[in-house]
Amino acid sequence: MKTYLELSKAELQDTLKILEMRYNELKSRNLALDMTRGKPSPDQLSIANEMPGLLDLDNLKAEDGADCRNYGVPYGLTESRKLFSEILDVDASLITVGNNSSLQLMYDTLSRSLIFGEIESEKPWAQIPNRKWICPVPGYDRHFLVTETLGFELIAVPLNEDGPDMDMVEKLVAEDPSILGMWAMPLYSNPDGYIYSEEVCKRLASMKTAAPDFRILWDNAYVVHHLYDDPAKQGTLPEILSLCREAGNPNRVYEFASTSKITFAGSGIACMAANEENTTRARKYLGVQSIGPNKIVQLMHAKYVPDLDSVKKVMKKQAKLLRPKFEMVLKILNDELEGSGIARWNSPLGGYFISVYLLNGTAKETVRLAKECGVAFTPAGATYPYKKDPNDSNLRIAPSFPNVEDIETAVTVFSVCAKLAAVRKLLEE
Ligand SMILES: Cc1ncc(COP(=O)(O)O)c(C=O)c1O
Repeated sequence: MKTYLELSKAELQDTLKILEMRYNELKSRNLALDMTRGKPSPDQLSIANEMPGLLDLDNLKAEDGADCRNYGVPYGLTESRKLFSEILDVDASLITVGNNSSLQLMYDTLSRSLIFGEIESEKPWAQIPNRKWICPVPGYDRHFLVTETLGFELIAVPLNEDGPDMDMVEKLVAEDPSILGMWAMPLYSNPDGYIYSEEVCKRLASMKTAAPDFRILWDNAYVVHHLYDDPAKQGTLPEILSLCREAGNPNRVYEFASTSKITFAGSGIACMAANEENTTRARKYLGVQSIGPNKIVQLMHAKYVPDLDSVKKVMKKQAKLLRPKFEMVLKILNDELEGSGIARWNSPLGGYFISVYLLNGTAKETVRLAKECGVAFTPAGATYPYKKDPNDSNLRIAPSFPNVEDIETAVTVFSVCAKLAAVRKLLEE
């Protein structure tokens, strides 16, 4: 079978007619589907419904006697720090547990750098007007928005299957002292589901940076979010704080994680892990900012997921709900687009997204066509800094929220629209 790229103009015209018929038929169904939301489905959230009921309302004390109803315990309950210590394989003394959002902890971390600088800084980062931040692409739109909002110029670096293009990263950070840091999503990256290799992690830990206060925000959002129970199909990572210490750059990394996609996305707990110096410094300011986080939520997590084993059990239940959805997306992409030559996609082993690369110049048009058909997809460009995909190619499919039947319809629409956009473009050339 020929790919679309090999078809003659006459063959493309014939294909166009068939695709337009299919498109019109799909449009006549008056669909109203939303594939934009990378959030857990109600079924996934219900897994943890027993959690609030595990609280003993007559005894809301933590294991060391702290009254969780009251002020205090600013860096998180011992139980919560122990939980993240097991999840991240980092000593509990280096874990600070806050409220529900790891994204907020990342924003706060950068805010502190802007106002006070880092340990090695000559001056607060806000006083560096041309400050820059490396963004592996495609990536998480909210990361990009945080650094854009805080006044960094965003520098896109390609993300390969084994992590960011390290030759490029090393060159950039060695030459430019105004590059102050970078985003990293080392396990099941959003949206590609890529896993950083050990070599990439070591290079990130050891690379020479012109900025003495260079930082990596290591967002381990999907650290236990495997889709498959078979350990051979589960990504693993080296522990980054130790790698940085061994490489002589002990202050380089702040690591983040949360239970947003383990328990309740809006009422979970989030943490920051850092070495002793960074932790002490961050806590100095955190202690000023708040008299303590929501410890009732921390306590209910301690009852529901007291350790890594219990987290793994919950994540198996999560994966059981997510797997059929991911597999439906992949089945339809395969049935509709395999061999077309106009699309490639990833089959992630974990995380929340499937990333599709369409014929250059057709991603925006695909989303527009799908919208006209009643199916909303994440806007083209969202996975790039400033919402600009230079190739207009990458789209992110978020399978977690809709049901399997809706996914089947939505991804069929997606595929027909992608083909339609591609054939029209090829006919113009
Ligand atoms: C990579 C990544 N980091 C962070 C978050 C948000 O995490 P939190 O709910 O802990 O703020 C998300 C949510 O989709 C994400 O994909």
